[in-house]
Amino acid sequence: MNTFGKKLTLTTFGESHGKAIGCILDGVPAGLKIDEAFIQSELDRRKPGKSKLETGRKEDDRVEILSGVFEGLSTGTPIAMVIFNTNQKSKDYDSIKNLFRPGHADFTYFHKYGLRDYRGGGRSSARETAARVAGGAIAKLMLQELGVAIQSGLCEVDGIKAEKIDFAHAKGSKLYALDPNKEAQQEAAILTAKEAHDSVGGVVLTTATGVPVGLGEPLYYKLDAVLADAMMGINAAKAVEIGDGIASTHLKGSQNNDPITPEGFKSNHSGGILGGISNGDTVIVKTHFKPTPSIFKEQETVTVDNEPTVCNLKGRHDPCVAIRGAVVCEAMMALVLADMALLNLGKKMDHLKALYPTH
Ligand SMILES: Cc1cc2nc3c(=O)[nH]c(=O)nc-3n(C[C@H](O)[C@H](O)[C@H](O)COP(=O)(O)O)c2cc1C
Repeated sequence: MNTFGKKLTLTTFGESHGKAIGCILDGVPAGLKIDEAFIQSELDRRKPGKSKLETGRKEDDRVEILSGVFEGLSTGTPIAMVIFNTNQKSKDYDSIKNLFRPGHADFTYFHKYGLRDYRGGGRSSARETAARVAGGAIAKLMLQELGVAIQSGLCEVDGIKAEKIDFAHAKGSKLYALDPNKEAQQEAAILTAKEAHDSVGGVVLTTATGVPVGLGEPLYYKLDAVLADAMMGINAAKAVEIGDGIASTHLKGSQNNDPITPEGFKSNHSGGILGGISNGDTVIVKTHFKPTPSIFKEQETVTVDNEPTVCNLKGRHDPCVAIRGAVVCEAMMALVLADMALLNLGKKMDHLKALYPTH
């Protein structure tokens, strides 16, 4: 199951230490201006090695468009994109060939398929998320033309919560920190864990503004359900909240309901979604990431023959995957909203009549 979406579908391929990773994005309407520099800039935001808060692995992540674009415009045919892997150090993984790394997909892939590509986790590696970011960048270009803007940032690192949400600040922060007053403390927590050969978790806040009323397909393709699916499917994501999420379960109905006025909603506890359909307010999603499983402390595990052993990892890893995860959250939100925008077409007779006017 390597395809995501209904009308706008993203299929990704490739492994961490294979020749390349890539994607096919199908369903993009013809005539969309494809800004290749923008797609590359999105990949650059996700790529590793930008600071000491990230893995030292240096991937160039150069994206090449193979099809579906002619003279800078989408042609309405599948858009294929490829990113060649250039910085694999497969030798780093020799020592884990016959054992399962705790917190990784090694155990489950091996038992499900009977074999596994142990180099960097193969297909289970978050390297695959670069392909999602490439597809998501095109979805963002589509949404931009509809006036929808997506932003993200870290609202929590190692339990240190943001008290202020400043997306403009997050853009320039190396840990995409939303609260300038908490940034130093959050950065210190990441570096302290890194020095101790450990890792920390974090929470990404992703929002979409300018979303029209009506996106989301009840009953089994509701906007909130599909966003939760999209975010939970990101490597290391362990929980997703829509709007106030868990906090709303601690409120009274009188506190949680968003009053409606002729000018719009007075508050946004719902995260811009009611009954699985966007209500025109900002769509708000929080994605909780676990601490990076690859740590450089000795860990108890078993071999592929179920013999007890210990795991001592080498290689290069992010001490907090939520940082680069933020860019992936944006991509997944863009893919969902662009898909929902296409699915919503023709939902009313007047949509259809506008599309096919009588002669
Ligand atoms: C952007 C991103 C980068 C990641 N980089 C690493 C990494 O360098 N090292 C690591 O051990 N895990 C990394 N992960 C997490 C693992 O891929 C993930 O935890 C693992 O495949 C097990 O899957 P699960 O946590 O979803 O169960 C990363 C996740 C994301 C979203």
